[in-house]
Amino acid sequence: MELDFTSWLSMALRWLHLITGIAWIGSSFYFVWLDNNLRKARDKADTEKGVSGELWAVHGGGFYHNQKYSVAPKEMPAELHWFKWEAYFTWISGFLLLALIYYYGASVFLVDAAKYDLSPMMAVFLGLSFLVGGWIGYDLLCRSPLGRSNGAFGLVWFILLTFSAWALAQLFNDRGAYIHVGAMIGTVMAANVFMVIIPNQKKVVVDLIAGRSPDPKLGQMAKQRSLHNNYMTLPVLFIMISNHYPQTFANPYGWLVLSGIGVVGWLIRHFFNLKNQGRTHYGLAVLSVVAFLGVMVMAAYFKQAAKTDVTLEAGSVTYTAVRKIVNTHCIACHSISPRHEFFEEAPNGVTFDSKDNILKYRDQIRQRVVVSKDMPLGNETGMTEVERATLEAWLQAEGAK
Ligand code: HEC
Repeated sequence: MELDFTSWLSMALRWLHLITGIAWIGSSFYFVWLDNNLRKARDKADTEKGVSGELWAVHGGGFYHNQKYSVAPKEMPAELHWFKWEAYFTWISGFLLLALIYYYGASVFLVDAAKYDLSPMMAVFLGLSFLVGGWIGYDLLCRSPLGRSNGAFGLVWFILLTFSAWALAQLFNDRGAYIHVGAMIGTVMAANVFMVIIPNQKKVVVDLIAGRSPDPKLGQMAKQRSLHNNYMTLPVLFIMISNHYPQTFANPYGWLVLSGIGVVGWLIRHFFNLKNQGRTHYGLAVLSVVAFLGVMVMAAYFKQAAKTDVTLEAGSVTYTAVRKIVNTHCIACHSISPRHEFFEEAPNGVTFDSKDNILKYRDQIRQRVVVSKDMPLGNETGMTEVERATLEAWLQAEGAK
């Protein structure tokens, strides 16, 4: 019996990350919605207690009556729910997943020798620097005069993220670069909760209990960070699943495509924020769709422009030549008994030990080796354009038979 511990650990972490992420983002969307849908309290007794807004809702067979206090209730309730562990666990599980896949497996999952021949240690160090540097830069910006204007701040932060995406794309392989932009944003979001929102709320509660009036700055700062988190959610969610979509990153300007997707995510979020406030702007919805189409066209154009024109006559390639290429570049992982240090089982169970199997996966192979070129993973073996074209010519000829 063989137990592939790493792979089970990775599965458990990803599962946890998804669950906590849903809990975090779900509750954060709920509170934004709630805030935007509060109506003035009707009952005089309530307004006298300090209730500024309320909302009635029905869900799962029960009626709910939420009340928001403009400052705080006169007396602190015995139990107060904080909503913070969702954020902390999302970050912790995400970081462990990043470490397990991209840092432990840095030589394949992070380094692209064709771009930059980094040692795995150096690659990990650089990756971590972006996470820490991202938070420091963001926090300084928020505290600078720029932080006072949401629009100007948003623009500068967006430019900084785009610049980071570009820099990461020069250093790492395409997937590793994308995931690090996501990890940067996720780190900023979780640190906002951990370093600013929760501590400030704690100070406010302490002041209230002591009968002092809290510094309004504390609340303003927390509100600002909360708003930033709100606009960063959709882009970071895309990056979490981006690994499955080479059409976005597998081109020389993947960083620009990512920045375009960031704009789309921002627009969609803005549309819903306004809609929740009763200011539905259909123009924004249309703009989001147009921007999405724009990103599609842009990505396709970059892909096309980067196409290297090595073509071989279909039918001129023998199976022996193909066998040799597959043995050199694929079999270490895609085999019944893989010998790659990170794979005890063939990825997705896809093996190329026999000619029949290569043909069975003909379309997928063309997609990954010729179109998106993200196989062989990490290109550790240095597969060349000519070899890709050779494989393509043979697959075409076999397909035509
Ligand atoms: C270092 C290990 C490694 C090497 C070498 C490698 N692959 Fe992969 N391959 C993977 C992993 C991991 C996945 C699953 C994740 C993904 O789809 O990106 C995968 C997925 C694939 C898929 C998609 C399978 C599916 O489920 O549809 C194809 C096709 C593929 N590889 C073809 C190739 C070909 C052809 C080569 C050689 C030119 C190659 N790979 C070399 C690791 C490798």
